[in-house]
Amino acid sequence: MTVQIAPSILSADFAALGEAIARVERGGADFIHVDVMDGHFVPNITIGPPVVKALARVAKVPLDVHLMIEEPDRYIDAFAAAGASMISVHVEVLPHLHRTVHAIKQLGIRAGVVLNPSTPVGTLEEIAADVDFVLVMSVNPGFGGQSFIPGSVAKVRKVRDMLDRSGNRSALIEIDGGIDLGNAAQVVDAGARILVAGNALFNTPDPERATRELKTAASRGLAASSR
Ligand code: DX5
Ligand code: ZN
Repeated sequence: MTVQIAPSILSADFAALGEAIARVERGGADFIHVDVMDGHFVPNITIGPPVVKALARVAKVPLDVHLMIEEPDRYIDAFAAAGASMISVHVEVLPHLHRTVHAIKQLGIRAGVVLNPSTPVGTLEEIAADVDFVLVMSVNPGFGGQSFIPGSVAKVRKVRDMLDRSGNRSALIEIDGGIDLGNAAQVVDAGARILVAGNALFNTPDPERATRELKTAASRGLAASSR
């Protein structure tokens, strides 16, 4: 088992995304995390399938597409065709989450469900056995550069316990929001295995080095972890 790093390009220079991706890939990025926002579910608008398609052309690692949008069912095919390898959807917008998760999987894509900070872990109970990964938001979604919400550490533990109880030991936990060198080991110890980071990588003079350092910190957390 390893810890994987998914740099969020939300904090990169949108006029030079190809270069941003190349830098973090040189630093050992395992995925590129793409934040899709619609101005409805979250108060910000970012990018859609055409940009994801362009990113897929230049990225060497898989694209991890985080849909912060209402009615994600309408767009899953388009993001799959654009080159997403992982797609995550928010439980808060989906009355038929089971159908959505299976629709994503049927496209041959890893399906993830996302919990906002105020959304209880219990909302996953009936879907826990079916998901490929769970994304725990450690900030309220919408913007990069926000502060990590400390209660997220305990929430990761709860999600891990729920996944294990459901028999889904292979499902990974991803964590997103305010991740940096100061909390990476802690969230890994709690059970997170994919760390998203935007500000801590791209708002530094050397994103390649920042990625490498975050991966090292996360791996140390894993070595020390009892999980
Ligand atoms: C927030 C996004 C995150 C964000 C993470 O809505 O989902 O992926 O870009 O950025 P940092 O690491 O800056 O909190
Ligand atoms: Zn995200």
